[in-house]
Amino acid sequence: MNWTPNSWRDFPIKQQPVYPDQKLLREVEKRLSSYPPLIFAGEARTLKEQLAKVGRGEAFLLQGGDCAESFNDFNSTTIKNLFKLMLQMNMVLMYSTGKPVIKVGRVAGQFAKPRSSDFEEIDGVKLPSYRGDIINGIEFTKEARVPNPNNMLQAYNQGSATMNLLRAFSRGGLADLNMVHQWNLDFIKDNPLGQRYDELSKKIDKAMKFMSACGLDSKNTPQLHQTTIFTSHEALLLNYEEALTRQDEETNKWYDCSAHMLWIGDRTRDLTDAHVEYFRGIENPIGCKVGTTMGEDELIELINILNPNNEEGRLNLIVRMGANKIREYYPRLLKRVKDEKKNVVWSIDPMHGNVEKSSTGFKTRNFDNILKEVEEFFAIHEEMGTIAGGIHLEMTGNDVTECTGSQSSPITDSDLGSRYHTQCDPRLNASQALELAFMIGEKIKD
Ligand code: PEP
Ligand code: CO
Repeated sequence: MNWTPNSWRDFPIKQQPVYPDQKLLREVEKRLSSYPPLIFAGEARTLKEQLAKVGRGEAFLLQGGDCAESFNDFNSTTIKNLFKLMLQMNMVLMYSTGKPVIKVGRVAGQFAKPRSSDFEEIDGVKLPSYRGDIINGIEFTKEARVPNPNNMLQAYNQGSATMNLLRAFSRGGLADLNMVHQWNLDFIKDNPLGQRYDELSKKIDKAMKFMSACGLDSKNTPQLHQTTIFTSHEALLLNYEEALTRQDEETNKWYDCSAHMLWIGDRTRDLTDAHVEYFRGIENPIGCKVGTTMGEDELIELINILNPNNEEGRLNLIVRMGANKIREYYPRLLKRVKDEKKNVVWSIDPMHGNVEKSSTGFKTRNFDNILKEVEEFFAIHEEMGTIAGGIHLEMTGNDVTECTGSQSSPITDSDLGSRYHTQCDPRLNASQALELAFMIGEKIKD
């Protein structure tokens, strides 16, 4: 099929930086390609098997994390809080659905951002847009905005340290089901949502005691003691992805070893462009965003290119249309994919179609719209008799004020300024995300 890890370079490409120092770029690429992989091919295969279950309705996919990770906000608290939040949401969803939850973080590599404009203008000063810490700096200065290849090395190092900590949390005892109370985050504990979670934890405690009486406990049953959080990011900066693409010794196939799962953004999914070329050759489970501009024939062609063998668990289509548009655009895509018997995992990203500007000037999203798009997604799948596989969220375990609304954390336009910390798009804070998980849990149970 004439694919190589660098064959994408012969295709048109969008949303890329122009590096002024090409010599340094080549040096960095070379160094990165000699570094150890961040994941193993066998782990990516395990995730694919689990996603195949999601596609058949036997499991639920929970994917979430920052819009963009940041070099400055890199610390163990942020990673630990995201980990705890994912475990809490996992518990809520698992308890109400009775199905395993496949947890995939937007983490340990989610650094490159597509932008709607190549330039940003403030008070008559025009500079290149910020494209994520792996490319340039967020500060509005000429120097910061110059794309720097060395940032790729820092992203790799941060990704590997993040991965290391996530693996330690997953295996080292924090994920033990006897710790379920301790996952409750301090700033949620005292509000009604925290109490609701606490009630759930008590039920789990009871179940644990019962199982222990039967002879099953976290000492003899690893499933009660440990968990797995897979990693994912938008593989936008192909120089970085190519350098971490490795041939698996066992199967001789190529894997992008920068994360377990990678996805293509809505702005870079053109059939004849570089990203689709790169993605068709890697064996990882992959995702592709699906916005309102996607055509039915185009989608089928995309599926044929990215998943020619109609393999289960290979392709996750991540719908992001907006609360008021999903009804109009989604059903015919879904019907066509169903009619053509394509195996895909459908999930909903209720974030990227629901961006608005607050009256106080912040880029924000309203919880009601997020919830509405999720509800429409489930309703459409129910009507069509197809599987609503999961959700894809921009969220943080920290107590930020970036999205408005929700019952547990009723943020108004004028609250947004108090803890608005995102590098890029507004994220759900931990209580908003947990509230959403409770609501989805009820939906699926019904
Ligand atoms: C994202 O997931 O951060 C993103 C940019 O999404 P989309 O490609 O759907 O706009
Ligand atoms: Co985003």
